[in-house]
Amino acid sequence: MCGIVGYIGDKRAYPILIKGLSRLEYRGYDSAGIALLQEDNAIKIYKRQGKVLDLTEFIGDASTEGTVGIGHTRWATHGLPNDVNAHPHSSGDGSITLVHNGIIENYDVLKKELIKRGHVFKSETDTEVLVHLIEDIKEKSGVALEEAVRIALNEVHGAYAIVVLSTDEPDKIIAAKKSSPLVIGIGEDEYYLASDATPIVEYTKNVVYLEDEQIAIIHRKNGMRIISLRNKEVSPYVQELEMQLEELEKGGYEHFMLKEIYEQPRAIHDSFRGRLNSKEGWVSLGGIKDYEEQIANANRIIIIACGTSWHAALVGEYYFEDLARIPVEVEYASEFRYRNPIIRKDDVVIAISQSGETADTLAALKMAREQGATLLGIVNVVGSTISRVTDAGSYTHAGPEIGVASTKAFTTQLTLLALMALAIGKRRRTITDKKFQVYLNELEALPGKIEKLLESDDYIKSVAAEYKDAQNALYLGRGSSFPIALEGALKLKEISYIHAEGYPAAEMKHGPIALIDENMPVFVIATQGHNYEKVVSNIQEVKARKGKLIAIVTKGDTAVRDIADHVIEIPTCDEFVVPILATIPFQLISYHIAVMRECNVDQPRNLAKSVTVE
Ligand code: G6P
Repeated sequence: MCGIVGYIGDKRAYPILIKGLSRLEYRGYDSAGIALLQEDNAIKIYKRQGKVLDLTEFIGDASTEGTVGIGHTRWATHGLPNDVNAHPHSSGDGSITLVHNGIIENYDVLKKELIKRGHVFKSETDTEVLVHLIEDIKEKSGVALEEAVRIALNEVHGAYAIVVLSTDEPDKIIAAKKSSPLVIGIGEDEYYLASDATPIVEYTKNVVYLEDEQIAIIHRKNGMRIISLRNKEVSPYVQELEMQLEELEKGGYEHFMLKEIYEQPRAIHDSFRGRLNSKEGWVSLGGIKDYEEQIANANRIIIIACGTSWHAALVGEYYFEDLARIPVEVEYASEFRYRNPIIRKDDVVIAISQSGETADTLAALKMAREQGATLLGIVNVVGSTISRVTDAGSYTHAGPEIGVASTKAFTTQLTLLALMALAIGKRRRTITDKKFQVYLNELEALPGKIEKLLESDDYIKSVAAEYKDAQNALYLGRGSSFPIALEGALKLKEISYIHAEGYPAAEMKHGPIALIDENMPVFVIATQGHNYEKVVSNIQEVKARKGKLIAIVTKGDTAVRDIADHVIEIPTCDEFVVPILATIPFQLISYHIAVMRECNVDQPRNLAKSVTVE
């Protein structure tokens, strides 16, 4: 979490930094700050609790000159989200300033040592320790800034992406990373630094993704050099960005989340384009082609993920076990990495991640790597760390997702899992040709069906209005719809702050049923399929306790309509794609409720989109 930016060149740094921070706000929005190296060689720092907008209001007409600068938007880990703990942080004499994303794990030991040596700290952050450490080294050994940074980083444990300025070397900016991302954009005699490419794309398409334990030394006149923590010269690998600027803007929608919900027909189409041909009857995922044999022969598939991506993984379990008949285990990356799991060489580990940067997922992958498993990724952000550390994988091609609550990233993850399971099932001959063909047709028809479903948005909004004041909500589903109940509940609590729980419909009677009364909205997925009748029985149990029932049903359903308070229809489809279609009404319900409750839909409190700390 936390977003960092930097600029060195001929332009005014201030507007570039502010715009960049706004793009990175999804990574945290507890406080924001910038540091500008001014003409008189002084560093001017502005920082403020709150969002980037609060920062710009605070700065007002104050001086913002300078062509070198750094900025930060924070998701608090060590220390309250207040003005003092906001980044940038400076050395005791104010000559060195830095921004940091990550956690310095041994900050306490270092801090005590530095205090003994006379350093005085202002904040409670781990970051301030790092800037004092750099100052200490520089003062003692008189080395250049990059060398002081290098020596300091060798003493530090934990994760970092940092950008550093010094008044002693005003034509330089130093950046380094380990476990937190950092991208450097290369313009004409200018450089842009950011946690991801979104602040950079409008200025240049040429970027270098800094690797772990690398330090970039960027000089206004002499250009960029990269060295390793061990002081070895590294040649930068310059890549071209594929991202388009329009993808990062709201395009007329009130919120990014709504735009991203409405983008799903296009996003899902992009996720299977060129990978599926229903006329010729094939599925082919270029990114994993060379590993298909290995996956088909896997002893077991372990899918690791966090948050919404974990819900996608649960649906993946149904897909792989049903279509490819390979045993699947789904794990929270944060649990998996700490519980000494049994991983064998013929296991295939699939990491699912929108950002491709989630710290726990990365750590779990690292552990699986050490134990010899094959690693695959299902990732949205092109060039992200998970896409680079895995053996192979496929991008979801959802395009940048800015709203903190994941929408299109999730449905494209499901699409890709379906494609993978079909490809492997076909190879293992565990799926009949007929079923294979039906499923290809179903996937191909999804964008059109979602368009149709989105036409009911006004009606869904009217349903949302009925439940906007609820204090609790229950979401129920069976089979592959159970993870969608979990995801529906997560969406509601994330953005509207209503407590919600997802449950397998049949498990309701083992606990949650005690909560049901006339004030409890119960959202149920009751679409046609082999669980239909069982779910209808569960629905009766809800109604018998006077719960308010909102059911997602297949178009034309009458039985549930007679019992439920509201029904929301999804187009007729095979139950194979129900998880994808049933997700959309839940996204819209949460969105509308959150708007009606005047919540910040795109930036819900306490959350961040990219969780780069464990
Ligand atoms: C955060 C986000 C979620 C996301 C989760 C996992 O909690 O707010 O939307 O599902 O991280 O992130 P990943 O990028 O790995 O999918």
